[in-house]
Amino acid sequence: MNILLIDDEEDIRQIFEFCLMSVKKVTCIEASSGNEAISIIKAKKDEIDLIICDFNMGDGNGEDVYRYLLDNNIDIPYVLASSHHPSKFKIFDNQCLLFFNFLKPEITPHIEEMFLAYDKLKNKRHDAVEQNQDYLPLNIHFINKIGAAPCDLFIKVSETNMVKIHKEGDLFDEKEKYKQKKITHLYIDKKDVSKIFSFITNSLQEMFENKNLSSEDKINSFYQFLGSTVRQFPFTEDYQKVTGTVLGYITEIMKKDPPEKLLNLANGSNYNTGHSLIISLFSIQIAKELNLTDKSIEKKMTVASLLHDISISDLCDDERIYNNLVIEEKHTREVNLAKIKTHPIDSAKFATTLKDMPPDIDKIIAEHHELPGGRGFPRKLTEKQISQLSAIFIVAHHITECLYDLREKKEEIKWSSILEKTTSEKFFGSHFKRILEILPNLEPFA
Ligand SMILES: [Fe+2]
Ligand SMILES: [Fe+2]
Repeated sequence: MNILLIDDEEDIRQIFEFCLMSVKKVTCIEASSGNEAISIIKAKKDEIDLIICDFNMGDGNGEDVYRYLLDNNIDIPYVLASSHHPSKFKIFDNQCLLFFNFLKPEITPHIEEMFLAYDKLKNKRHDAVEQNQDYLPLNIHFINKIGAAPCDLFIKVSETNMVKIHKEGDLFDEKEKYKQKKITHLYIDKKDVSKIFSFITNSLQEMFENKNLSSEDKINSFYQFLGSTVRQFPFTEDYQKVTGTVLGYITEIMKKDPPEKLLNLANGSNYNTGHSLIISLFSIQIAKELNLTDKSIEKKMTVASLLHDISISDLCDDERIYNNLVIEEKHTREVNLAKIKTHPIDSAKFATTLKDMPPDIDKIIAEHHELPGGRGFPRKLTEKQISQLSAIFIVAHHITECLYDLREKKEEIKWSSILEKTTSEKFFGSHFKRILEILPNLEPFA
């Protein structure tokens, strides 16, 4: 990834370069003025992935660079790095290239956030390209579950050639055959995608309305659906819709289910599902106690909780072990350490690929293992840098862990013991202070 760094102060360019490279493997091209940058853009526009630009510079300023891009239809994402907010400058009323800004001198804490926003932007563009392809991959596992070809299915014989291999309605029990050939996906004509999704939507709805299934069973199956499809389906509009419906079903079931069911969730579900749902219940309760006026808070918390560990949904037990620990290299069980270390960012990245996500969800997910005093990971944020919604989520996650601990030790589950453990956890400062104050009002086991 090539970044054009424009600042008239060499020190600032060096700080930027160091910070950027500590987070991602990037190559920085430096320019000390707007006009120098414009000549570089003229010569190398196809090689530049991102521009980070100061505003006030002697020979051509940040506005000149931005205007040059706009006037010449050069589509390179632009980040303003100035001591002033972009809203101060008229030129940035047109935001088509500006997707992030650094408020100098605060650079370091926001580098990862900038990359996250960059990925989000790229994903959106990538989606637009994907939508233009004629065929979409469909996981063989999934077709096998349906038991019949939901539409004509194709096999890819070369990069450009697809051959029809199953007709719509054909019985499908070919998982093993394909597994032996190491084929994981067949393809469907893009025109048929709505058939697949109406099939999925119907079966999920049937499940939602099925009175013979307990709420826990339904929630488990919905969660499994999310977990199993999440990295396999192409992110088409229809997939976004189905995911939205599933998240809506879970939210609805959770609303009807009083918190006494918490323990059933913890008992009946695997850790990944159970703890995610319990976190959403607690974080919604905390937000209510704090009188937050954000109307979409329930959705945000539920969705964030369902997706927060999605990138490690296959190693949930390890996550349980590492939860609330500051991850240290010396930790003996190193099996999945790397994956666990980055999972808040990886899961947040996934959330950004889903369309129509309410804002803040990716931030909550990215920050869900941060702790006051910089004791968390991956970014070691301090309490002041952790947003209020993330703080709520972090405490809710901690409470949930306490619940699991007590259950494991076969101790009596009392709110007072959970409170005690939570207050001793050094959730100090900023938003955490207020959250701890209202915690005694939450008595879910009364
Ligand atoms: Fe996690
Ligand atoms: Fe978690």
